[in-house]
Amino acid sequence: MTVRIAPSILSADFSKLGDEIAMCEAGGADWIHIDVMDGRFVPNLTYGAKVIETVRACTSLSLDVHMMVVEPEQYFDDFVAAGADGLTIHAEAAPHLHRQLTRIRELGCRAGVALNPATPLTAVSEILPELDLLLIMTVNPGFGAQEFIPYSPGKVRRARQLLDEGASGAVLEVDGGVSRATIKDLWEAGADTFVAGNAIFSAADPRAEIGALRGRCGVLV
Ligand code: DX5
Ligand code: ZN
Repeated sequence: MTVRIAPSILSADFSKLGDEIAMCEAGGADWIHIDVMDGRFVPNLTYGAKVIETVRACTSLSLDVHMMVVEPEQYFDDFVAAGADGLTIHAEAAPHLHRQLTRIRELGCRAGVALNPATPLTAVSEILPELDLLLIMTVNPGFGAQEFIPYSPGKVRRARQLLDEGASGAVLEVDGGVSRATIKDLWEAGADTFVAGNAIFSAADPRAEIGALRGRCGVLV
């Protein structure tokens, strides 16, 4: 397994977004993570298709769109047209996961499901064949720079087991409070893709921080 680092632009300086993305790319980022929030599913509002399009124009990296919204299917077409490579919807906001994952794949995108900290893994156990990515939230979604929930690695370990037992090749991603202090436990638990906002953008040298996070997993940078 390789370590994939996905900087979340939620913590970027939007007055120089292009430079921030170029910096991530120069630091070896694998994906760019874009947090879409609607002020309903989560108590915060961010951005939508326009920002996806702006980021798309700045980079050829894969755009990992995390949809913290109710009725996510309303936005699939627009987000794909804007340049998304992966769409991740929340199980708590999407009762018809099978239909919606199928639709995301039809649009040529990676189909992902995110689970809040309180949501059990059984929310996805019946639809593993439709799943390209499973996102385990390691904070409650809505804001950057929150405190990592310390028992999250246990859930990641069980998620890895679930995917392996189902012979699923889905990406296992974690999001929230990922830092030099937490990434190793998550990697050892079986996560392969790490979203990080605050840890990267508040670092003295954000470029180097991407390599430092990867290095904590014991993988050469
Ligand atoms: C939280 C978002 C995250 C957030 C992570 O709701 O889904 O992607 O940007 O931020 P950090 O890494 O600062 O915890
Ligand atoms: Zn996110």
